[in-house]
Amino acid sequence: MMIPNLENYFRGFIPPRDGLLLELEEEATREAIPIVGPVVGELLYILARLAGAKNILELGTASGYSAIYLARALPPGGRVITLEMSEDMARRAEANFTRAGLADQIEVRRGQALELMADMTETFDLIFLDIDKESYLPALAHCRRLLKAGGLLAADNVGFAGAADFNREIFTQGGWRVVQLFSFLPLHSPEQDGLCLALRQE
Ligand SMILES: C[S@@+](CC[C@H](N)C(=O)[O-])C[C@H]1O[C@@H](n2cnc3c(N)ncnc32)[C@H](O)[C@@H]1O
Repeated sequence: MMIPNLENYFRGFIPPRDGLLLELEEEATREAIPIVGPVVGELLYILARLAGAKNILELGTASGYSAIYLARALPPGGRVITLEMSEDMARRAEANFTRAGLADQIEVRRGQALELMADMTETFDLIFLDIDKESYLPALAHCRRLLKAGGLLAADNVGFAGAADFNREIFTQGGWRVVQLFSFLPLHSPEQDGLCLALRQE
């Protein structure tokens, strides 16, 4: 037998967070900014810590909410590079990173993620994919090239129709160990969505 009313039940386990993250959540609700929310935020923190991720790449900064979770998981000397095409969002995120005391750990690069990635040569331990869903498939080859072997690709919102080609491709192309999770994610946008976790093999 299952616990009755599972969605309400799991709302009782939303991870706690500090005043800045709560403020960014309220702002996101007010302005319809699609942030990952506290469950995926905490998951990103746990994954980054488990991976011992020193170099993290994020695609899609928005107000900086998820980047704060990722940067808080960094070891000393680690850094997050986050890509954002909206100048307004990039500026707001930088102000939030300063408020979080993380300005030295997080670099915002402005522009179209696919173009910025094409010029990148650094390698990363973890890449978090959270841009427009139609760009997920074209971003995949860049993610593979920029992830070190054994690195983790986490893709949010893979329940969106625009991510369907990406889901099929990463599942079938080989060179990845992949799970596609259909999840209930309280305070995520939207609350029922898919998450893809993929380990880059040699
Ligand atoms: C879903 S929001 C990111 C939310 C953020 N990761 C968080 O949870 O706090 C997507 C952001 O990516 C930006 N974006 C969308 N498509 C992009 C692209 N192709 N290149 C760069 N930025 C993009 C949007 O302007 C928006 O701010």
